[in-house]
Amino acid sequence: MAVKLKSESEMRIMREAGQIVGQTLAALREKVKPGVDVLELEAFVDDEYERRGVGSPFLDYSPAPKYPPYPSRICISVNDELVHGIPKHRLLKEGDIVSMDLGSVWKGYVGDAAITVGVGKVSAQAQDLIDVTSQALAAGIEAAGKAKHLSDICAAIEDAILPSGYSIVRGYGGHGVGRSMHEAPHIPNHRIRFKGIPIRTGLVIALEPMVIVGGPETYECEDGWTVKTVDGSLCCHFEHTIAIREGQPPEVLTLP
Ligand code: MF3
Ligand code: CO
Repeated sequence: MAVKLKSESEMRIMREAGQIVGQTLAALREKVKPGVDVLELEAFVDDEYERRGVGSPFLDYSPAPKYPPYPSRICISVNDELVHGIPKHRLLKEGDIVSMDLGSVWKGYVGDAAITVGVGKVSAQAQDLIDVTSQALAAGIEAAGKAKHLSDICAAIEDAILPSGYSIVRGYGGHGVGRSMHEAPHIPNHRIRFKGIPIRTGLVIALEPMVIVGGPETYECEDGWTVKTVDGSLCCHFEHTIAIREGQPPEVLTLP
């Protein structure tokens, strides 16, 4: 599938779409506390999106026939759940880490971002995992400003994670973003054996490093969506949608 570069006017709309996601995630971050039900976080998104007239690219999404339509506007994944956690009744407890992955559709364009947040005080290792993964995202964004080809971004993300000794998730990654949530190209969080597409002005992509404390293996649960680590170890996910601009660093579209 061909890469769709965005015009300045498309970019303006995507900035709005991204800001909705950034603002909603910032509000969710404040709500994450011991004793909070995951379903309350989901309900906040539902209310907020209905109030603002925002669409969701997640709700009813099914990338392939084997996936049942996704039943929520948000993915909430706790501890050993890596991504695509379907919100369900669960009281967050001190020391948990919770990933919240959120998309918007605004004036026909998509924003997509994720954060992982500690619940109360978390272990030193959990905090380190959060730091490593968010720094890997920052490294990918920085690299995108200088990259000639996609492979330069993938390598920068890999290099940011390697020294930690944690595992890089394979099989899931970032993607182009536009009128659809998932456009070309697919963006692995590790080195690739080809150069990949040239990085140029108008490219809008979501980078989303996923890191596991233990082994790299994951599996999909019976609900058809929730991805967990095989060894039960902690894992982490951060995501931003960014735009490549002429003569400027990449613009992070999904900030508040
Ligand atoms: N934001 C995620 C992604 O980039 C998750 C979407 S899965 C969905 O792929 F089912 F929730 F839509
Ligand atoms: Co994404």
